[in-house]
Amino acid sequence: MFKKILEQLRWKKLARQLRKPTGAMGLEVARRMNINNEFLYNFTLDEMMIRYNQHILEIGFGNGKFFYKHFDFATNLRVTGIDISDDMLAAARENNRELIRDRQLELVKSASNSMPFPKNCFDAIFSINVAYFWKDPQEHLCEIARVLKPGGRLYTTIRSTESLSRMPFSQYGFTSYTEQEWKLFCHLNDLSFIRCSLVVEPDLPGAEFTGIRSLCLVAEKIKL
Ligand SMILES: C[S@@+](CC[C@H](N)C(=O)[O-])C[C@H]1O[C@@H](n2cnc3c(N)ncnc32)[C@H](O)[C@@H]1O
Repeated sequence: MFKKILEQLRWKKLARQLRKPTGAMGLEVARRMNINNEFLYNFTLDEMMIRYNQHILEIGFGNGKFFYKHFDFATNLRVTGIDISDDMLAAARENNRELIRDRQLELVKSASNSMPFPKNCFDAIFSINVAYFWKDPQEHLCEIARVLKPGGRLYTTIRSTESLSRMPFSQYGFTSYTEQEWKLFCHLNDLSFIRCSLVVEPDLPGAEFTGIRSLCLVAEKIKL
């Protein structure tokens, strides 16, 4: 019984850190996410087919270890990142000094339901493992549609409902979505649903969870 309570506390603490990594534990959680989620970054960036001269926004970048990857795909890119955690902003600034100095990357403290950007300014917006935390996804999708250019695309990568349900921390405030549910949310926010790409992540050595399935949900802002 006591062991079970301790386990629950452990998962609850981890869930809180995944939602907003903070302090020394937040830095360690971010480091582990780099190992566990690099595959999803490669998968999502491939899905995005990044092109010359695009302006890209990442929502919820963690410690920002993978921003450099964008620049392997095309030249003359501008990348902006937002995150709600001060500690992740500081870590990401440290990890990307040169890109920031060269004005290729800008990092801003902001939540995705209220962003300090003008309308129609991004060609592509993506997030990886962030949409679980949106209490009201419509609030976030409405704001994302505002800042996306008409014809611009949103890429939302999340673990499947079944895979997430096998991760005990997900019972503490995580929501996953099916393709059908996401389609409806997009439709209500001037985003036309394009596709859902599915992937099975490779099992990492010593992984706690195996055979994890993830989805990249792609939607496009309707051209009026
Ligand atoms: C689970 S971590 C994912 C980090 C990284 N994308 C990855 O997959 O490794 C979630 C990150 O999103 C940030 N975050 C959570 N909700 C957010 C929101 N509404 N707007 C912006 N950032 C958010 C958290 O601070 C955290 O850095």
